[in-house]
Amino acid sequence: MSKILAANFKTNHTRASTQEYVEKLDTSMGELGYLDDLYLFPPATALNNFNVKNSIHIGAQNAYPTIKGSFTGEIGVEQLEEFNVKTLLIGHSERRHILGETQEFIAKKYIWFIEKGFKIFYCIGEPLEVREAGDKAVRQYLVEQLEGIDTSYENLILAYEPVWAIGTGKTATAELIERTHSMIKEMVDKPLLYGGSVKPQNLAEILAVPGCDGALIGTASWDAESMISMLEIA
Ligand code: G3P
Repeated sequence: MSKILAANFKTNHTRASTQEYVEKLDTSMGELGYLDDLYLFPPATALNNFNVKNSIHIGAQNAYPTIKGSFTGEIGVEQLEEFNVKTLLIGHSERRHILGETQEFIAKKYIWFIEKGFKIFYCIGEPLEVREAGDKAVRQYLVEQLEGIDTSYENLILAYEPVWAIGTGKTATAELIERTHSMIKEMVDKPLLYGGSVKPQNLAEILAVPGCDGALIGTASWDAESMISMLEIA
């Protein structure tokens, strides 16, 4: 599978259901033979060294830039090391727009974790009002979301997730994805995923878009059978 698929569980699944999910994938992956380009981002309580025969990359949806310390409610590197997690999602729109992470803090987090050698999935994407203002406004918005981010970092994967497509069922068209990915790739030459209402029915079209190197999937990834069908497509 040359394309990267990443499953963002967000606030879904428990430790037990994630183990069950991974075992279902492991069984199918034995036949599918997909190992290296699948990343699973379960909730922090479900991080685990899953006892399955295939290695499935496990990433953290969030972590605080600290080894340990007094940051109530957060997890730091020590909690990630317990499960050998060295992949981290940073800049997701829900952490920006719901949980209030500023670009300044996101950049600080990014710098801290790349210094620790983490693989980073870095998310950017515009809200509807910016999209409606046109490509120039979108470009400026995305430039601002890359402020303070060292995009030369070798272990960086970008994800373009238009906020208006996340969880809404309103997937960006192939034309819009191609146009926006081309704009982003002019700025940053790194693997670039699309995210925003990706599902088995539209995955093949999205992965066929020039400049799209994979997908970051929410809702459609929460069911193991749905994820397996997307692995078969990819
Ligand atoms: O990080 C992926 C997520 O934001 C996309 O969500 O439900 O639109 O696939 P969804």
